[in-house]
Amino acid sequence: MGIIFSEKSKTITLHTRHSSYQMKIGNLDYLFHLYYGPAICDADMSYQIMQYDRGFSGNPYESRNARTFSLDAQPQEFSTQQQGDFRTASIEVVNGDGSYSFHGKAVDFRIKKGKYQLDTLPCVFANEGDTADTLEVTLSDAVSKVQVVLLYSVFEEADIITRAVKVLNSGDTPIHLKKIMSVCLDFLNGRNFDLVSLPGRYGQERQVERQHMTHHIHTIGSVRGSSSHQQNPFVILCDKNATEDYGQCYGFSLMYSGNFLAEAELDQYDQLRLVMGINPKQFVYELAPGEIFEGPEVVMAFSDQGFTGLSHLYHDFYRSNLCRSKFVSETERPVLINSWEAAFMDFDDKKLVEIAKAARKMGVDLLVMDDGWFGKRDDDNSSLGDWYVNENKIKCGLHRLVEQINDLGMKFGIWFEPEMVSEDSDLYRAHPEWTMQIPGRPAVRSRNQMALDMSRREVQDYLIEKVNAVLDDANIFYVKWDINRSLTDIWSNCLPAERQGEVYHRYILGLYRVMDNIIKTHPDILFEGCSGGGGRYDPAMLHYYPQYWVSDNNHPIDRLKLHYGTSFVYPVCTMGAHISDSGRFVPLRTKAMVAMCGTFGYELDATKLTEEEQKICREQSDLFRKYYPLIFAGDYYRLTNPFEPGNMTAWQHVAKDKSESLVSVVVTNLTCNGPQEYIKAKGLEPDAMYTVNDGEEAYSGSALMNAGFPINREVPEYTAFQFHLQKIR
Ligand code: GLA
Repeated sequence: MGIIFSEKSKTITLHTRHSSYQMKIGNLDYLFHLYYGPAICDADMSYQIMQYDRGFSGNPYESRNARTFSLDAQPQEFSTQQQGDFRTASIEVVNGDGSYSFHGKAVDFRIKKGKYQLDTLPCVFANEGDTADTLEVTLSDAVSKVQVVLLYSVFEEADIITRAVKVLNSGDTPIHLKKIMSVCLDFLNGRNFDLVSLPGRYGQERQVERQHMTHHIHTIGSVRGSSSHQQNPFVILCDKNATEDYGQCYGFSLMYSGNFLAEAELDQYDQLRLVMGINPKQFVYELAPGEIFEGPEVVMAFSDQGFTGLSHLYHDFYRSNLCRSKFVSETERPVLINSWEAAFMDFDDKKLVEIAKAARKMGVDLLVMDDGWFGKRDDDNSSLGDWYVNENKIKCGLHRLVEQINDLGMKFGIWFEPEMVSEDSDLYRAHPEWTMQIPGRPAVRSRNQMALDMSRREVQDYLIEKVNAVLDDANIFYVKWDINRSLTDIWSNCLPAERQGEVYHRYILGLYRVMDNIIKTHPDILFEGCSGGGGRYDPAMLHYYPQYWVSDNNHPIDRLKLHYGTSFVYPVCTMGAHISDSGRFVPLRTKAMVAMCGTFGYELDATKLTEEEQKICREQSDLFRKYYPLIFAGDYYRLTNPFEPGNMTAWQHVAKDKSESLVSVVVTNLTCNGPQEYIKAKGLEPDAMYTVNDGEEAYSGSALMNAGFPINREVPEYTAFQFHLQKIR
């Protein structure tokens, strides 16, 4: 059992293979956090807590004579409100009497077998054979009767702990939640921590930033209605000396696609608090008596093997416990070609068939018809919402077009942007009230489009019906689900004035309901998420869709950074990556190698390639298929950091049994008469001998890891090398 309660010390300890997490029902029944870090057996960590009379840090009434007890100076498992803890809060609730207070005391806890699930939000799951146990601790406020249920699941072998939170209004008047964090984690000594996050922008998502903790609240979050390009709902707290290979790292990955917030506060006593959950901005949620609110899940991991160790925990776990699609492991993903950068919206059925024919020669399995096929869409000013085929373009009809593609031995995929509506659309003309707009205020346009009110049941039902109808009309193998703007004008026609603070969250709940219905109705379809590239790349989306478009930026040299940053938490098999015309001076083989650090595909007009280029593409598609098990199921290593000055970017895939590996190197910069560069491999068996690219010579794993590969520098810039290592003994 991964969860142990000690009657004597009143501690509850969660154990994974290499980590432990401990809390204690302590003084006055408050729930204290004692420890998270390397495994500690069954130690009682209460001895860590020292108590002093801290001026200006108040004492709960019952302990007024013991001035050394303050919630401001003790590590909390979920902080109280208005009980003298002035650090950033886990909860802000307005009770029925107007008071802002929550004095949560631990009144109950249960330990169960298996993984908890949430009714309204996506969660990771346990597979058969996983050891997963659940702890539920109830904190109750005796006056307001508000209860907070803290949920924990421990995945012992995976070294993962998940947390979520539920708020139950057991009182008899409505309450209003203004902030509810899914996780609150207090570290006693936070002075030596750095915070790593993945900020970015359109075209440059998930760049890596690291900042040292100083005495203020460091916030990472989004208020764009989606998890966004600009930040990602993932942060790492790590030792200030942590590197790729060494040091303690804690990861926090939030399963939520809407506004989120992570706050890390280094307090006056150098304690560190991390909270993460739904962003409180414009969030006020009413809970009637008896109602429950669920906060999204946070997936936590701890590694003392640096960033690589932490990434491997997430990669393994997200590959097996996040997405239910058969494309996660049972069915191999196809090599696809997407029509977007090939033709944008300027295509018809004939053009698509021509592209497919040329692509077939390149070893492509799937043609994806991107934006431009529906309503009367010829540019991005119209038709979103009208999910029926534009027969001026697809003259033969969708069914026949798909048949023609299937006759070539290829599968067919299609693009949707369901959450959006164009003013110039039949849908908007029929239902302007389905759009998010504030009464009397014209809505902000972005790409000249507006957002549908996804909180509204009729909107959800309309999308379920329309998208399913298209998918049923033809033999569709793949769907790309896009969203191309941030949300503004947050207002729903079907909620009263005082509940408009619920709209952001209800939008996301509505979205999940629609996606859940569509994937369950079509379990054989491969879905890929997209938001103007990787603007909503988060684990919640990956619960529904096994892959996500990394970025609209296909430039292979920029992609090195994009893949690097994304890989901190998301496995390579989730990263949509294509070869396109972008990067004029970069050889096709280099582009292909970069796209192999992902789902691999093409995004160009295949009819315009020369025979020689088509041949190179064919070889690359075949190589991708050959290395597919290694790339999708192996361990991924970042060998260099493309954000640091250097002349090469390199990464590596290693089979779980270390029998095989693929080292990829792109020469990004060549200085005249420069020094010889070496790339050191990782993750090999030190004593084993490996051949390189089927060569005669064999090299020991330790030589390749400690001395590395010399990279030939007498090559044109942007040359790429792939070293396929095979263990021979
Ligand atoms: C977004 C996507 C692109 C493409 C266009 C179509 O920008 O990221 O890949 O689908 O929309 O409008």
